[in-house]
Amino acid sequence: MRAAIFSVHPYEVPFLDRANEKAGHDLTYLPAALSESTVPLAEGYEGVCLFVGDDASAGVLRALHAGGTRVIALRSAGFNHVDIEEADRLGMTVLRVPAYSPHAVAEHALALMMVLNRKLHRAFNRTREQNFELSGLMGFDMHGKTAGIIGTGKIGEVLCKILVGFGCRVLASDPQPNPVCEDMGVEYVSLDDLYAQSDIISLHCPLTPQTKHLINADALAKMKPNVMLINTSRGAVIDTRALINALKKGSIGSVGLDVYEEEGDLFFHDLSDQVIQDDVFVRLITFPNVLITAHQGFLTREACTAIAETTIGNLSDFAAGSTREENTVTKRLIAPAG
Ligand code: NAI
Repeated sequence: MRAAIFSVHPYEVPFLDRANEKAGHDLTYLPAALSESTVPLAEGYEGVCLFVGDDASAGVLRALHAGGTRVIALRSAGFNHVDIEEADRLGMTVLRVPAYSPHAVAEHALALMMVLNRKLHRAFNRTREQNFELSGLMGFDMHGKTAGIIGTGKIGEVLCKILVGFGCRVLASDPQPNPVCEDMGVEYVSLDDLYAQSDIISLHCPLTPQTKHLINADALAKMKPNVMLINTSRGAVIDTRALINALKKGSIGSVGLDVYEEEGDLFFHDLSDQVIQDDVFVRLITFPNVLITAHQGFLTREACTAIAETTIGNLSDFAAGSTREENTVTKRLIAPAG
């Protein structure tokens, strides 16, 4: 199949080439993100392959369809950047990589926690400046702390296991409790109880109309003073302006973010020579207790291998007329769970 791979990053190409060796699809690598203005690049391609920063809103989908595209293969688990209802209406198939390495993202969430807790981001800079003073670097034992996990699917489950291993008490909120988590002693509680009791809160739910701005001013006000908040799910699960207000008031201990509401214009690009126009983001990075990574939770060799293999497999399945149900995104998946 001819497929246009949008938003391709240099680190992905060897993984995609290796996965495509046997399948032999005709792949065109395009560094540009898919948008209203770049959609003509896909003209004549039956397949397009997208990443999280691509825009597959209704108008873009209609233009893709008019250009002959019939299948969209997402190189991600999340699909909030695709208008699924419009894709269904147009009869376009949307395929994703439902699981590649939940360990990659759960371990990244843990990395954010540990760096923030022990202030390694600050210690790194200090020792390079030959400043070996310890003041301001005080952390806490993870052992015995209460962690609240919002969303205990594949990634949340792995993180629960890691945190139980640390000796944390783990609370969770999910409309569909996970029996594996229950068996390891995770306690499902209401969101209010999770906010009130957790020393660390980590978000692992998808972005849906129900979870958009789940962490708003109200939720932040219910959290323990000094709470650590980690988000490796999707940026818009947090109302960033409300978060900034809480940080300014000093009610939040620390924040680790791998995702940001408006990350599309920022992440995955080298903007080091430019003036960033997003004042909200720029304010966020000024806080010494905020650590931001640019959506790299998935970035392990194991995850990239699995993403490339599943994506190429999805294109092959579509070409053979036999797509896998578990990889197919339909309206069913965006219906509120529970
Ligand atoms: P999953 O589908 O296995 O689990 C998601 C869980 O969230 C499910 O158990 C679901 O019932 C629960 N959920 C849904 N609505 C909820 C709500 N209102 N409150 C609490 N829980 C709710 O998904 P998986 O693989 O664990 O991924 C989770 C999210 O992580 C993805 O949707 C994606 O947005 C994000 N992600 C981020 C990556 C990164 O690089 N930072 C990479 C991969 C995924």
